Amino acid sequence: MWNPVWMLLSGTLDDGTVTLRPIVPDDGPAVLDALSNDPSVARWTRVPWPYTRAHLEEFLHAVTVWHAGTSDLALGIVDHETQAFLGCIGLHRIGLSRSPRSAFLPDEVGYWVSKEARGRGVATSALQLLARFGLCDLGRPRLNLQTKVGNAPSAAVARRVGFRFVARVPATDVDDDDSDHDRFVLTAADLLDVEPSAVVSPSVP
Ligand SMILES: CC(C)(COP(=O)(O)OP(=O)(O)OC[C@H]1O[C@@H](n2cnc3c(N)ncnc32)[C@H](O)[C@@H]1OP(=O)(O)O)[C@@H](O)C(=O)NCCC(=O)NCCS
Repeated sequence: MWNPVWMLLSGTLDDGTVTLRPIVPDDGPAVLDALSNDPSVARWTRVPWPYTRAHLEEFLHAVTVWHAGTSDLALGIVDHETQAFLGCIGLHRIGLSRSPRSAFLPDEVGYWVSKEARGRGVATSALQLLARFGLCDLGRPRLNLQTKVGNAPSAAVARRVGFRFVARVPATDVDDDDSDHDRFVLTAADLLDVEPSAVVSPSVP
């Protein structure tokens, strides 16, 4: 049966500022460079620190498995003009139910932007694009997002896209993590503009 996740596995999302497209092995050097030189990503996410080549190999393998099974989307955020690599954004456990053994909630988004590209709306643009795709094109009823308590920039990004704060959960309720988390949700009704994204283009051979 046709799966709408395939739309993005063979295409891109674009808003004229950033482009989102599937992570490929050629992104490896940019991912390694960003994550091995910046502990702030590990501080606020589940990315390990220090980040090594072995972690990169593990990630690229996971991406292959995720995309083959259409369970998760791992996307590179690149500059619309130059195609320079700016960061990563993912949608995880797509359409699956809650699993006590999974670090991710169903339909959970996560992202990071490389140090040099921060503070100019990259994460906001990327989250807006992926949220619209998840809700309008994939038809997911709600998207989940979790920030570690104190991650003000990420909470600002979430709120700006329309995510609503729903709960602060103690570390004991978060799988595979020892920090308290703030949980946010987004539904199609929360989006200011719920037009289906007109930006999926089958451009990747
Ligand atoms: C969080 C992160 C993705 C934001 O990326 P970015 O491209 O710089 O984000 P944007 O430029 O779109 O927006 C940043 C927002 O944070 C706000 N911000 C920045 N520093 C802040 C601070 N110290 N306190 C409060 N808000 C802050 C900015 O004002 C902006 O909000 P606004 O658009 O309402 O003005 C980036 O900092 C990052 O990768 N951090 C490490 C990994 C991480 O935290 N990932 C998210 C895990 S949930």
